[in-house]
Amino acid sequence: MEQETKERLIQAALAARDKAYVPYSNYRVGAALLTKEGKIITGCNVENASYGLSNCAERTAIFKAVSEGERDFAGMAVAVYGKKAASPCGACRQVLREFFNDDAEIILVNEEGKGSVATMEQLLPGAFTGEDM
Ligand code: THU
Repeated sequence: MEQETKERLIQAALAARDKAYVPYSNYRVGAALLTKEGKIITGCNVENASYGLSNCAERTAIFKAVSEGERDFAGMAVAVYGKKAASPCGACRQVLREFFNDDAEIILVNEEGKGSVATMEQLLPGAFTGEDM
């Protein structure tokens, strides 16, 4: 991704945090997914009183996008409040891998929009994919 695109994606992820429904953890996460056509689709975490049913921001963004007909993604940014960027959970890594190639870039940032870029392969090496079957 170009630097300007990365910055646009980070800003969208930072803004998406404020939609988070987090009465249990109070840990707001925002995600922004970039389609190959340049469209941005956001997501936030949505928690539940039955904690295990909570949905992470990354999966919210993916499921929103796919349900709107988008499947070709160029990258994602994930933003939190606090000094330390979030590390996507295992479930999200597997769901992301369904729609991202190994070389796709996932940006993980803190409240200042600072952090790091990881490739899909770094996040989930040796992933199980449809090609394994
Ligand atoms: N969470 C995310 O939304 N994304 C991450 O990358 C890490 C964790 C959410 C799940 C739950 O709502 C809260 O953060 C605390 O685990």
